[in-house]
Amino acid sequence: MNWPGIIEAYRSFLPVTPTTPVITLQEGNTALLPAPALARELPPGTRLYLKCEGFNPTGSFKDRGMTVAISKAVEAGAKAVICASTGNTSASAAAYAARAGLRCFVVLPAGAIALGKLSQALLHGAKVIPIEGNFDAALRVVRELAAAGRATLVNSLNPHRIEGQKTAAFEICDQLGEAPDYLALPVGNAGNITAYWKGFKEYYSAGRSGRLPVMLGFQASGAAPLVEGRAIPNPQTIATAIRIGDPASRKGAEAARDESGGRIDKVTDEEILSAYQRLASQCGVFCEPASAASVAGVLKLAREGYFPPGRTIVCVLTGHGLKDPDRAIACCETPRPIPATAEAVSAALGA
Ligand code: F0G
Repeated sequence: MNWPGIIEAYRSFLPVTPTTPVITLQEGNTALLPAPALARELPPGTRLYLKCEGFNPTGSFKDRGMTVAISKAVEAGAKAVICASTGNTSASAAAYAARAGLRCFVVLPAGAIALGKLSQALLHGAKVIPIEGNFDAALRVVRELAAAGRATLVNSLNPHRIEGQKTAAFEICDQLGEAPDYLALPVGNAGNITAYWKGFKEYYSAGRSGRLPVMLGFQASGAAPLVEGRAIPNPQTIATAIRIGDPASRKGAEAARDESGGRIDKVTDEEILSAYQRLASQCGVFCEPASAASVAGVLKLAREGYFPPGRTIVCVLTGHGLKDPDRAIACCETPRPIPATAEAVSAALGA
């Protein structure tokens, strides 16, 4: 079967009608990979899975929300869309806007966007506007411009984004045959945790799953407003995707945590980079640093004795590693060139 994208796959759960134009890049249907190499560090009988959202068309989970947001914008007669972004939202908005024939404006914190993401926004033809400020400042600006009618806002404050993103929760239930015991994900602006929790609740209410997961959100320790309980004016982390000090969906994240009996915790940049490298070198999965916060958080809670044995845990890997090649290179030693002879290469292979 040619997978039709998330709108057709989950139409009855989404705010579309038979006349809504469907703008899709056939997003969704991403892999749910077992991770036995990491499960060894968890209690006996734990089943650990990675939901590989970097396998979406533009390399991140944003495509699920963007297909709905852009389809609804076209339906409403919009001519232009606008977003603030740490990179992935802008890449996705640019691609879907290109496909729909809409203009796309992206407002970004200057110098803080991973190279892969910036290259996507530019090549897809978005008008890229770097600002002298962080993501939170960019979001304030685009909210003001959208309210003034300059363009349709496609950040996750747009409820259609949340509607699309909730389909990842549906897919996990369909792939496992049941909701997991725990769902772990990185938290930045907090739209995604809000969307997953909505999705799990809707599937449960519709009788498509028999239980609800415990929700575990992880922020970077230098950008952890939900853990500290206050906005962070100058957030810092190597995980640039989640370098956010004042999350727009704070209430949604807190509701997911409290209603599910879960937690929102923080992990250090060292813990994030360790999980990032282990996912690549032990599991064969190249995700971006922010995504590895979910795995870093689960390993941290496991060290604290949080998980009982025999449970199913899903970690969401939100974006692809190729988004941020500079970070990967910086983590590794780059080998020096040697003579092009069998002898030299043989010696370089080592024992
Ligand atoms: N992981 C990645 C790779 C992201 O790009 C983001 C958010 C998150 C996690 C956090 O998701 O904001 O819903 O809590 N990126 C946004 C962007 C902010 O502009 O691309 P969230």
